[in-house]
Amino acid sequence: MQFFHKIVADDFDSVNRLILDQIHSNVNLVEDIGNYLIEAGGKRLRPLLVLLVANALNYTGNKHYDLAAIIEFIHSATLLHDDVVDTSDLRRGRLTANAKWGNAPSVLVGDFLYSRAFQMMVAIGNMDIMKVMSDTTNLISEGEVQQLINAKNPNISEASYYEVIHKKTAVLFEGACEAAAILSQSEKPMQQQMQKYGYHLGLAFQLVDDVLDYTGSIEELGKNVGDDLSEGKPTLPLIYAMNNSSPEDTEVITHSIRHADNSHITKIIDIIHTSGALDYTQSVAKDHTIKAIKQLYSLQDSVYKEAMINLAEFSISRST
Ligand code: IPE
Ligand code: IPE
Ligand code: MG
Ligand code: MG
Ligand code: MG
Repeated sequence: MQFFHKIVADDFDSVNRLILDQIHSNVNLVEDIGNYLIEAGGKRLRPLLVLLVANALNYTGNKHYDLAAIIEFIHSATLLHDDVVDTSDLRRGRLTANAKWGNAPSVLVGDFLYSRAFQMMVAIGNMDIMKVMSDTTNLISEGEVQQLINAKNPNISEASYYEVIHKKTAVLFEGACEAAAILSQSEKPMQQQMQKYGYHLGLAFQLVDDVLDYTGSIEELGKNVGDDLSEGKPTLPLIYAMNNSSPEDTEVITHSIRHADNSHITKIIDIIHTSGALDYTQSVAKDHTIKAIKQLYSLQDSVYKEAMINLAEFSISRST
């Protein structure tokens, strides 16, 4: 277990218990699919953020357990939907729910988890948290739609790529941190610093996810690699490589994106290595990690703060 998980291990027992309680439905299929995904684990980074921020800000109640479970439910809902739209068949080392049960049950159970998260939020009863989380889920949906529009288009700008990864991924990291700061009744500037920490961490996390889609191992990631190319996704490694390679190499990438054709993946992996595209993407991720850590300047020293620094470093060095 990583240091950042270890120091909140007891808190996580409470969160995991809540998750299992709250996944309950009288409709067996709902519970089966929900349990199937949740039991498989995953890194639990977003609920971890809630626990670390709340502890770092000396929160003394127990609603951070609910908030952490809520965030993991929202994340799980996005994964169920994401694997349908990305036609992925492996997640957390298992068949995806869509591969096992089909698209319709996956989408519908995703909706169940989303709405269960909001039922749990009502129980927390904090309108400011409700606002953050409703904006968060709305932006995630928008980001996924923008990414769909960008697919098979090799002319997507770096700016447009950042807009997509901000919305589809970083926003939930931001929401987790900001909501935890609100729950802890910290002052507005601290809430904003926590939000910005989540923003930079989330961007770094997705940048590395996009690198790992070319360089990662299926065993370690528990999901397939090469899926982005199969879907014609113009992620940063490809955008950079198209702008920094020979016309012939650029054409291989352009063609592959346009036709969502992954038959040249070996050649493309070679191009993104030699053009410096992977180093570039990794260095942008590193810059965001540094910016994330800088946001912690006014947070009092504690093991939780140390874990937040550690987590930011993990997000760019990870292979899982
Ligand atoms: C996967 O997130 C979706 C992305 C934003 C890249 P994680 O890599 O955190 O997935 P789990 O929860 O650990 O399976
Ligand atoms: C994940 O993006 C974003 C959301 C789940 C909203 P990806 O599509 O890159 O995530 P993985 O690689 O399937 O986990
Ligand atoms: Mg996906
Ligand atoms: Mg996706
Ligand atoms: Mg990915």
